[in-house]
Amino acid sequence: MQPRLLLTQSIKLLPVLRLRGTRTMSSIPRVYVTRPDVDASGLELLRKSCNVSTWKEALPVPREVLLREVAGCEAVYCALTDKIDAEVLDAAGSQLKCVSTISVGYEHIDVEECRKRGIRVGFTPDVLTDATAELTLALLLATNRRLFEASKQVYNGGWKSWAPMWMCGQGLKGSRVGLLGFGRIGQEIAARIFPFKPAEITYTTRTARPQEAAAVNGRHVDFDEMLRNSDFIVACCALTPETKEIFNAGAFKKMKPNCIFINTARGGVVDQKALHEALESKRILAAGLDVTTPEPLPLDDPLLKLDNVVILPHIGSADIETRKEMSRITARNILAALTGGKMEAEVTV
Ligand code: DGY
Repeated sequence: MQPRLLLTQSIKLLPVLRLRGTRTMSSIPRVYVTRPDVDASGLELLRKSCNVSTWKEALPVPREVLLREVAGCEAVYCALTDKIDAEVLDAAGSQLKCVSTISVGYEHIDVEECRKRGIRVGFTPDVLTDATAELTLALLLATNRRLFEASKQVYNGGWKSWAPMWMCGQGLKGSRVGLLGFGRIGQEIAARIFPFKPAEITYTTRTARPQEAAAVNGRHVDFDEMLRNSDFIVACCALTPETKEIFNAGAFKKMKPNCIFINTARGGVVDQKALHEALESKRILAAGLDVTTPEPLPLDDPLLKLDNVVILPHIGSADIETRKEMSRITARNILAALTGGKMEAEVTV
């Protein structure tokens, strides 16, 4: 008989069989993972000491399945596509110790509700900073130099000959760039824009960060000044009640007509109807969006009909090594929380 079979049978017969020293079968913590397609290295870490079950499809877990599967779990490994609210926490039960998300954003988790119940919340900042800053630059350059629009012409016969003013864009050199948000990601975006020789980089945050801004000669400005003076505006802030739809019709009206708007933060910081109007009426020059409302954007969304917008499917942190490490951090956050230890990255608001 295979040793594995023996173990399985023993487990059935003796539910309190002692494993790993003092631990008993009944005390092995249960962890529910809302996606099967996170990098396996994270799941392997969890499987060493936890009973792990995962949703079976590489798509967000349906709500009713989530509510059913979290019951009795000590930890939930989730993604930004899962809404973790009081209903999920109730469904899990009072033994739930940790919610760990494979993302830096945690607006999909009711953190306050978790705090009240003593449930710790893990996330993955830092590790994705460079990947997200890199993607922001890629999106900015694809938008200002019209890469997708130009590339299409190669395939559809629009490329007749080299032409002096055809497919010209607006360069970064000598431009004014405004960032909404100057946290880790904002600072790395600024550091990558700086070598393109903009005239000035400004940033809008609640409090000025002169030390962090010194490397790019960044100037702290209020939101209004940033809107009125920037040739490029990059949203790289968290989605909070304060930033929700902060880019609304009023904000787009204040922007310069040559302004290029880039959003790698969250779709929710933009009033998308107002953005569409601003782009369609050429109130602003162009937009590059890695995030939209909703996600995925429906194929009949009016934004998809415009030439002056580049839309990506939320791939800011989608760098292979980054995503692998995000999976491991999400797992390590859970393991730390289960043993009452210090989590690698814990939401503490
Ligand atoms: C995040 O982590 O919040 C990004 O949006 C996806 O990686």
